[in-house]
Amino acid sequence: MIFSGAYNSTRGNDMTHAADARVTQRVEQLRQAVNRHNYLYYVQDAPEISDAEFDRLFRELQQLEAEHPELVTADSPTQRVGAAPVSEFGEIRHEIPMLSLDNAFSEDEARDFDRRVRERLGQQQPVHYVAEPKMDGLAISLRYENGLLVNAATRGDGTTGEDVTHNVRTVPSIPLRLMESGYPAVLEVRGEVYMSKADFDKLNAAQAKQGDKLFANPRNAAAGSLRQLDPRITASRRLSFYAYGVGVVRPDTLPQRHSEILAQLRKWGFPVSKYVRTVSGVEGCLAYHREMAERRAKLPFDIDGVVYKVDSLAQQQELGFVARAPRWALAHKFPAEEQTTKLRAVEFQVGRTGALTPVARLEPVFVGGVTVSNATLHNMDEIERKDIHIGDTVVIRRAGDVIPEVVRVVAEHRPRHAARVKLPSHCPVCGSEVIRPEGEAVARCTGGLFCAAQRKESLRHFASRRAMDIEGMGEKLVEELVDENLLTSPVDIYHLAKHAGVLKAREGWGEKSVANLLAAIERSKRTTLTRFLIALGIPNVGETTAADLANHFGSLEALETAAADYEKQRLAGHGPGPGELDKRLAGLELRQIAGIGPTVAEQIGAFFHQQGNRAVIQGLRTAGVHWPDVKPASADRSGAFAGKTLVLTGTLSGMTRDEAKQRIQELGGKVSGSVSKKTDYVVVGAEPGSKFADAQRLGVAILDEAAFRRLLGE
Ligand code: IVH
Repeated sequence: MIFSGAYNSTRGNDMTHAADARVTQRVEQLRQAVNRHNYLYYVQDAPEISDAEFDRLFRELQQLEAEHPELVTADSPTQRVGAAPVSEFGEIRHEIPMLSLDNAFSEDEARDFDRRVRERLGQQQPVHYVAEPKMDGLAISLRYENGLLVNAATRGDGTTGEDVTHNVRTVPSIPLRLMESGYPAVLEVRGEVYMSKADFDKLNAAQAKQGDKLFANPRNAAAGSLRQLDPRITASRRLSFYAYGVGVVRPDTLPQRHSEILAQLRKWGFPVSKYVRTVSGVEGCLAYHREMAERRAKLPFDIDGVVYKVDSLAQQQELGFVARAPRWALAHKFPAEEQTTKLRAVEFQVGRTGALTPVARLEPVFVGGVTVSNATLHNMDEIERKDIHIGDTVVIRRAGDVIPEVVRVVAEHRPRHAARVKLPSHCPVCGSEVIRPEGEAVARCTGGLFCAAQRKESLRHFASRRAMDIEGMGEKLVEELVDENLLTSPVDIYHLAKHAGVLKAREGWGEKSVANLLAAIERSKRTTLTRFLIALGIPNVGETTAADLANHFGSLEALETAAADYEKQRLAGHGPGPGELDKRLAGLELRQIAGIGPTVAEQIGAFFHQQGNRAVIQGLRTAGVHWPDVKPASADRSGAFAGKTLVLTGTLSGMTRDEAKQRIQELGGKVSGSVSKKTDYVVVGAEPGSKFADAQRLGVAILDEAAFRRLLGE
């Protein structure tokens, strides 16, 4: 902390004191410090102190000023927000008009511009240009007299703008007084007020939370925020600023190159974009354009193009102006990132995990540099939130390589025949029932084991280590075998031996690798109910739930019966009373297991209901997949681990961590990752970790491997 403690404030004394010299000096010191750190933060992008330290300086200044109001000055950094709301904006006439720019939309047009420039200058060699981002905000002119900000105006019609001084004062990166000396008595700085993408998102999130209208884009948000009659609202909106030029300068002592003027503005305390560059000739301009186009999506603010300006002021003067734009500058625009078009239809795509994603089919539209005819709609909640109807006119956004999306509906253009979007009741790929549990955004196909859309994912999961644990059958192999039509369902895995010839002929494969794979498949046939349930890939049924189900039901048949019962009751629907179905479902056996709520129960019920899933399960059993029934935990309350929590640490000699975990779960126990007083046993293998010490400290029972195995019944 830099200044704390240097001055003892008289807090608690409600009399104001005539400031002595020490206070006056301290106040000035604090103002300089706050201004300097503001400058380092906003202009240099290189803060030297933390936000908290900055806040401390700022609060000390605020407090001293509160105690000594006679010391408050208009340019004190504490005085950014202060003015009372106004009923309308005054007008400010621009002594030097605020011009606009000629636009180019292609490289050819940019070359034409450069050719005209060189012709007028009578110059063959490349012209020196300054290339700048074209900020997508609104132009502002800031007037400083003797180093103090005296007013700020919007562009208006170019000749007369609105007086937005009070609002501009709240923009933290705009200096209220200039840094360093040597500035002209009158200096008008021109630049763009904008809102960063992050601040825009925050603002819209806050607007949504309060049920207020959302802003369409950062530019609208910046303009709306600057044109507030109450400066406190502007202050809360976090606007930013970049300087890109000057207006009136009296006396005119500025350097004779635009690039040097920008450098000078930066020294006086104005933020100038770090992407500003001097380039040589039109080729330099075009290279810059391409570079910025590539960067565009990743920049923290919106730009709608780049601007080229002839660097030499003498040359600028020689070139002069046409109508409302200078001949020495050009805006080379990027393709717009947003366009409107018509939503023709909504179709549903099924993803690797069975999730149904609505996709907008659009009347083709040129946006972000390509023709777009599809856009993602994410999920049903999103469609409802944005109130999207088929037939609507919609705003499409494509930024960078991001998948195009529907931003919003142009509500005024909704035709009378516009139709609501309906979630299909059955999977468009396999015809299985689609369920969307209450409160879930995502709707899913229930044909997990046989839906073609989910094939690769379900097979990869099926073979994975914690499921059937088929060594060597990783993502890549599954993908290839599916593509080669050797696998369509998990049952095919157990018939791969029939295709040994084809397998051996595969590139990079031989006798040995095929034998290894087939052996691993054979080994996996002997499994446990828990692993088998994990392998089925029922949504939301992971290791813990699978173990709970296995322990509770003991056999697959018992689980299938309970699932069928649940599905039957659910499909029977509501009875006469409200909430009657929910109550009925909550009473069913499937729901008596801790951690299985309506969503998971519904998914389990729907999964076993699918004829296709049942066929696959049958096929697996016929192929020889088997497991011992589990002694249901309920019948085995005396079981060593029923209701107990265990923690594992160190290495066991004869089993892996996963195996130990599974055995514990099969005997009704739970495995936790950390030791607490509630832990019943800590199983300690070789080279245990800190959990061993934790157990000793907390007095938790410790099992060595032999004791653990005895309890496992070995
Ligand atoms: S120079 C005489 N430089 O674009 C030159 N303008 O289409 C006047 N803009 O009203 C403008 N970034 O709001 C200039 N680096 C930049 C700019 C920029 C954004 C805006 C500005 C102006 C509009 C002209």
